[in-house]
Amino acid sequence: MSSNWSAKTGSEGLTRPDWDAIRLEFPALHQSVNGCPLAYFDHAATSQKPRRVINAMTHYYQSDNANVHRGVHNLSQRATTVYEAARTKTARFLGAADSSEIIFTSGTTASINLVAQSWGNAHLKPGDEVLVTGLEHHANLVPWQMACTRTGARLKIVPVNERGEVSTEAVSEMLTSGTRMFAFCWISNALGTINPAQEWVEMARKRGITTLIDAAQVVAHKPINLQEIGCDFLCFSAHKMMGPTGTGVLYGIKSVLETLDPVFGGGDMIDEVSYERSTWADLPYRLEAGTPNISGVIGLSAAIDFLESIGWASILERESELLSYALEKLRNIPRIRFIGEPKLRSGVISFIADGVHPYDLGTLLDEQGIALRTGHHCAQPLMRHFGISGTCRVSLALYNNHEEIDRLDLAIRSALRLITNVDK
Ligand code: ALA
Repeated sequence: MSSNWSAKTGSEGLTRPDWDAIRLEFPALHQSVNGCPLAYFDHAATSQKPRRVINAMTHYYQSDNANVHRGVHNLSQRATTVYEAARTKTARFLGAADSSEIIFTSGTTASINLVAQSWGNAHLKPGDEVLVTGLEHHANLVPWQMACTRTGARLKIVPVNERGEVSTEAVSEMLTSGTRMFAFCWISNALGTINPAQEWVEMARKRGITTLIDAAQVVAHKPINLQEIGCDFLCFSAHKMMGPTGTGVLYGIKSVLETLDPVFGGGDMIDEVSYERSTWADLPYRLEAGTPNISGVIGLSAAIDFLESIGWASILERESELLSYALEKLRNIPRIRFIGEPKLRSGVISFIADGVHPYDLGTLLDEQGIALRTGHHCAQPLMRHFGISGTCRVSLALYNNHEEIDRLDLAIRSALRLITNVDK
């Protein structure tokens, strides 16, 4: 889709989106925090929302608010139309073969839990193996631990090297004849490592192993083409791609989804109910019990429009440029040590400052209006692997700019000077 943003002509004669105009679309970015302009570097935890998303959700509540699939009245018909249009759009956005392969959930965590419970109960038995990597967010680890405890299967972890990468050779060795599921993050939320998702899926599928991709950190940063990737399941949250919280997607190949029993029973997921038994509706509805997050799905749909209005080529170029700039700046700050130096990195930089607790540094940065995440990033085993309790994490999005990165550089230097003087 072509850009509808006014374009600037760069010095090389190329046309580029007007990033300042795009940034103006995010109302929350334009505020002061502790008397300083906000610099938001916590996109990986949740992204800021453009007006287009906020307005679409407000419009639904102001004009169309009604339940979906349940009424013949006009408002319900309108709500159903936009809700189902969002499903079709999401399917196209991901390159899914059919819109019934898109299940709306409350987010990545809910999507993975649904698969771990439903697929896990149907397919795992004692002695089977579930493989994950050492890079996983707790959301792609704990549900599999729970599934293994329930079914007697064994959880195996592909180790991470000192650069914060998982080697394809190690994956290949650990995909054994006992492996039933290989579930992995495409991009690590804690280190930014980009895994070769397509290659790993291909390897697993050749051996008849089911695959699940946690794409939470991918959706705002890279285009996804499910026909190329070929995974069985893929999960993400709307709130990491400029959409609202409380909404996410579980994609599954239709023939695989058809093997899943519902985890939740209730309204909208049934065909017929009697006191003796119930039968299920067709996909996708039988995995979407109860009133869905209608406004959230509408927000997700607007977020897709927003990203596509800029275009992937521009987003990829912008983010790669911001990442290189930030890496160079931070690398030159004395006492800073990067945690993870992956060769392929998305817009995440995790670091620690020698002798400084990440919370202390995070707090001093907040005093200068700079928002980043500190702590274990819901990846405690990964932090343990590096022998630390947590990091400071800078995560970038298309709405960040060079001036903010300059401010981050100066703010870290001044915070470290302050801590050093206090320590003396
Ligand atoms: N998964 C989110 C993060 O990485 C919360 O910060």
